[in-house]
Amino acid sequence: MSEQQQRTASGWQTGPGEAAPPNIARVYDYLLGGKDNFPADRIVAQRIEETLPEVQLGVRAQRAVLRRVVRYLVGEAGLRQLLDLGSGLPTADNVHQIAHSVDPATRVVYVDNDPVVLTHARALLADNPQTVVVAGDLRDPAALLTDERLRDHLDFEQPIGLLLCGILHYVLDEEEPARILGELVAALPSGSYVFLHHLLAAGDDQEAAATEAVLRQGVGRAQFRTLDQVAAFLGDLTPVDPGVVTVSQWRPEAGAPSLADNPVLRLAAVWVARKG
Ligand SMILES: C[S@@+](CC[C@H](N)C(=O)[O-])C[C@H]1O[C@@H](n2cnc3c(N)ncnc32)[C@H](O)[C@@H]1O
Repeated sequence: MSEQQQRTASGWQTGPGEAAPPNIARVYDYLLGGKDNFPADRIVAQRIEETLPEVQLGVRAQRAVLRRVVRYLVGEAGLRQLLDLGSGLPTADNVHQIAHSVDPATRVVYVDNDPVVLTHARALLADNPQTVVVAGDLRDPAALLTDERLRDHLDFEQPIGLLLCGILHYVLDEEEPARILGELVAALPSGSYVFLHHLLAAGDDQEAAATEAVLRQGVGRAQFRTLDQVAAFLGDLTPVDPGVVTVSQWRPEAGAPSLADNPVLRLAAVWVARKG
């Protein structure tokens, strides 16, 4: 089916941005059922759906583990500062909303390198003094860590929760993700925590490889890694229970979709770990 036919069939609106190249934040927004996406994004998302029919369950599991982790960090671990790198387009249950449901004084910095994400996030957060939005690129941690607005909002003498949810697999091996993570972790005070959600080159079939190929072709980059490689990103950090696990196995809530019933959930690993 041509793009024009797809648009007509699905009732997509055309307008500004229609010609924009596909972009991961908007592809992800589409897969989550959002409206902040353009035809090119929907085409990539639909290719992913063809390759991985359960993908929507996978992205919902990603949001669900992010919610559980933020509740853990602000609730059990007692953090009052979160740095969310690759925050994505605002959706239901954003990080600041979950954090503020535990303690409204929690300070949150959202960082993304996508101008559309930044515009939407700033509009949503215009009147929220505990939360700021910063333009930054994970691949340039030195610039990120010296950003004035970020340093004004977070106190680097107090523990910080660094959230890397669904972003590190967009940093290629040649861009040195372990070095980048190491630089970020080195800047955090002891007592800080890091959360990583990372897509996995898992299973004995071709689903992961084919999905990675669609992403590479569609949005220009993607690097799924093995469970061992994701575990190696821990470096000197100490993982909290249950360690390095697939997405649905990290402190699951009763009734949540299980790995046994939903094989797509084996394609993402997560860990939460403490510094010092
Ligand atoms: C798949 S979305 C994940 C959104 C959210 N963290 C979540 O898990 O629901 C990935 C986000 O990372 C952003 N991103 C990708 N590469 C980035 C980079 N190098 N620096 C900053 N943001 C990046 C994208 O723009 C997008 O908003």
